[in-house]
Amino acid sequence: MGTKDVRVGIVGASGYTGGELLRLLATHPRAEITVATSREYAGQPISNVHFNLKGFLGNLKFSQLSVDQLIGKCDVVFTSTPSGVAKGLAPKLIEHGLKVIDLSPDFRLKDPKLYEHWYDFSHDAPDLLSKATYGLPELHRDAIRNAQLVACPGCNSTAALLSLIPAVEHRLIDLDHIVVDVKVGSSEAGMKPSIGTHHPERANVMRPYEAAGHRHVAEVEQELTALSGKSVRVALVPHAVGAVRGALATSHVWLSDTSTDELAVWRAYAKRYGQEPFVRIVRGGRYPDPKYLIGSNFADVGMAVEQRIGRAALFAAIDNLMKGAAGQAVQCMNLVLGFSEYEGLNAPPLRPV
Ligand SMILES: NC(=O)c1ccc[n+]([C@@H]2O[C@H](COP(=O)([O-])OP(=O)(O)OC[C@H]3O[C@@H](n4cnc5c(N)ncnc54)[C@H](OP(=O)(O)O)[C@@H]3O)[C@@H](O)[C@H]2O)c1
Repeated sequence: MGTKDVRVGIVGASGYTGGELLRLLATHPRAEITVATSREYAGQPISNVHFNLKGFLGNLKFSQLSVDQLIGKCDVVFTSTPSGVAKGLAPKLIEHGLKVIDLSPDFRLKDPKLYEHWYDFSHDAPDLLSKATYGLPELHRDAIRNAQLVACPGCNSTAALLSLIPAVEHRLIDLDHIVVDVKVGSSEAGMKPSIGTHHPERANVMRPYEAAGHRHVAEVEQELTALSGKSVRVALVPHAVGAVRGALATSHVWLSDTSTDELAVWRAYAKRYGQEPFVRIVRGGRYPDPKYLIGSNFADVGMAVEQRIGRAALFAAIDNLMKGAAGQAVQCMNLVLGFSEYEGLNAPPLRPV
């Protein structure tokens, strides 16, 4: 190892979230990337795939996935792989004392049966589900600090949960009627094009998908149920939009007490998120828009209360590849290792994009 404090490996480094991990960790003051796997691009320089990283990362090349290599060369491993891969890798890495930060859905759900229902597989490391910590620092900061296995939330789930946490915690809303509408950019689908996601099909769309039961519902319900102590069911409808990056959750909710006004809702959010390093509250006639946080780990939250009908719209905007994936994973790594949460995540958002 060089002069850095921790050696990091990325499994699935050629993908979009893997690329963002490489970008963030390339300038992280305390982490050194020692392994970056890609089966397709093994042996090739990182910049052959991630053109934006030319000139960074020295001589690092993609390597074939080898668990023994990860164990020998890493202290922390990020798995930014499709669902079903990390659950096969994590047990051995953990057995050898490595910390694992998984960006896939493999360890997000506590109940193994939910994987059969939502992900069409039966979990082969179910004992690890209870040991995994759901990687949303705004809910589980202290547990993440002590975690060996962190299950980072999905991007739609991160936006949905951040829009709702203070309202649910303070019981400002009717927990039986929560409807979350999410708009999300094309990078959510990963870098392999399909008939629905390659550019001519995806550009300019405003397309609902998995509208009657998106997989991320399971983790949103799990976390809101744990937070409220009451069984919470959520309708969540994602929409593919023409942007490359960004996710915006608009949660339509009904107020428990119709005398609650916007100031009261804002106060609850300001109190709950006031000390959060990566949550900003947007107010004063403006609403959150991913456009103003692209490239950063911020989540912007906001609210609109329509007292006339006892309803509110609660918003959270994120960059799906940052607070929705790699940024949040690095935030979790910082917590796991006792670093400042800001390390590697200090850059302000881009403008214009
Ligand atoms: N994109 C988002 O906005 C987002 C947000 C939150 C969470 N996530 C989750 O993060 C994970 C990665 O997403 P992504 O968008 O980065 O996907 P991606 O762009 O498709 O990249 C997937 C990566 O995994 C590798 N890979 C694929 N199959 C593999 C296997 N069987 N064994 C080992 N490596 C394998 C691929 O490289 P090789 O095939 O060359 O090995 C590639 O590097 C997914 O689980 C996704 O649900 C994505």
